[in-house]
Amino acid sequence: MDSQTEIFISENEIKQAVARLAAEIEQDYRGKRPLLIGILKGSFMFMADLSRQINLPVEVDFIKLSSYGAAKETSGRVKTVLGLTTSLKGRDVIVIEDIVDTGTTISFLMDYLQKKKPASLKLCVLLDKPSRRQVPVTIDYLGFTVPDKFIVGYGLDFDEKFRCLPDICFLD
Ligand code: IMP
Ligand code: MG
Repeated sequence: MDSQTEIFISENEIKQAVARLAAEIEQDYRGKRPLLIGILKGSFMFMADLSRQINLPVEVDFIKLSSYGAAKETSGRVKTVLGLTTSLKGRDVIVIEDIVDTGTTISFLMDYLQKKKPASLKLCVLLDKPSRRQVPVTIDYLGFTVPDKFIVGYGLDFDEKFRCLPDICFLD
């Protein structure tokens, strides 16, 4: 912890939400071999915990997009997608994202992935900040809805800081 941060969702509450999401996914994908695609870096902790809780033969891959750097708001432009190594053709893909804010990043990415012709494409998001939405986004599996405050911890950073806090925190 840090004097700049205030716990909003505790480690234990996160654990319960992850278990609930894993159970929902398990039920929906029974008999399938879903491919989880995490968006780096923010989703790395969520992906590690979620993937271990889904009692199915899941596969994982990661991609990277542009980052905020030292700013607290998205530039509105998304750079290229880096690192996808798995063919998505005919796969049941679930995108794993840390937070949806304006929706710019994820809507770009879902369009990009849809063009790779997966059998199905769903979105699992830990945190949703709907008050800031500019682009409509369908979230299939959601952890928590959060207020319009800047959030760090459990994978989320501010200028690469606070990313490894075990709790989800507000940053002053
Ligand atoms: P969007 O394109 O505005 O929806 O921004 C989504 C991306 O911005 C997320 O993948 C995060 O990496 C980052 N982001 C948005 N809100 C926050 C926040 O409160 N804390 C940390 N990162 C955030
Ligand atoms: Mg992100």
